[in-house]
Amino acid sequence: MNKLKFANGDELDAIGLGTWKSEPGEVYQAIRDAIQIGYRHIDCAWIYQNEAEIGQALKDAISAGDVTRKELWITSKLWNTFHAPEDVEEGLKQSLDALQLEYLDLYLMHWPIAHKKDEPFPKTASGFIPITELPIKNTWKALETCKEKGLVSHIGVSNFNVPKLKKLLGLSWIKPEMNQVELHPLLAQNELLAFCQENNIHVTAYSPLGSRDRAPAMKGAEEPDLFENPTIKRMATEHGVHPAQILIKWAENRGTAVIPKSVNKERLAQNLEAGNISLSDENIVALARLDMDYRYVHGKFWEREGGFYTVDWLWNQ
Ligand code: A2P
Repeated sequence: MNKLKFANGDELDAIGLGTWKSEPGEVYQAIRDAIQIGYRHIDCAWIYQNEAEIGQALKDAISAGDVTRKELWITSKLWNTFHAPEDVEEGLKQSLDALQLEYLDLYLMHWPIAHKKDEPFPKTASGFIPITELPIKNTWKALETCKEKGLVSHIGVSNFNVPKLKKLLGLSWIKPEMNQVELHPLLAQNELLAFCQENNIHVTAYSPLGSRDRAPAMKGAEEPDLFENPTIKRMATEHGVHPAQILIKWAENRGTAVIPKSVNKERLAQNLEAGNISLSDENIVALARLDMDYRYVHGKFWEREGGFYTVDWLWNQ
């Protein structure tokens, strides 16, 4: 499997485990299984509301001698309610406590969006804080402090486009080392990837399988099914694998990390084994032709009547 290399010499397994939508009650076993199968990179977030159960699984896996803390790479993300500089460390500490860890390997600003403190999912515009009032640079500075204190080894962002990254690069003392965004063959984001590569920002692909287990309220009317895409299906048959594995290999092949979510032992193993597939030049060209700028995680759920945050602001401005 490919490894992503960081300036300080740290290395990150390209194929990791996503935990968004992994329910309490099932995520404990998924983490124990994943570690036994060989996963070392686990992607978490405060808002997934399952970090306590993940933390118990990590603790038990370490106690059982399945893995050491040093061998693991644990990422978590600052939720939008903790953007005020004085709240950033609190948000991080809540994740560290839940995960039963002394430090994170990577901590990301989850969205370039700020909420009022008691509004994890604001129902109206008044629950948000416009970024003009609470600029990203203020939140970032507090993240830099967390890194300087040794609470996190690396800091980065998620759901950032090129204009927002450019602004952040111009303002930051410690540069972001990761941008986690939605990526799959229908949303290749080639320009964003090239910009990140030119600026030494690694990229992680989220929702690489199309995130089919999202809540119905987050789904579009007629979403394309990546597993049923004829090109991807044909390629899976050619290689004797599941379409999910073609999608994971596509991401790894482009030099990104990729975090497919599963809570099923067979599928966890399948996904890790995707690293062994060798895509042909013809496969790569055919997959590149599928790009249609299609987002599953479209961001419309941030729009409120009269609110500051719009899909156009999020992805284009
Ligand atoms: P499950 O957790 O039951 O395995 P994404 O990573 O894009 O968010 O997609 C996650 C969805 O894809 C989940 O519904 C997950 O189901 C499913 N999934 C993960 N790996 C595979 C696989 N190898 N084959 C089929 N479905 C998979």
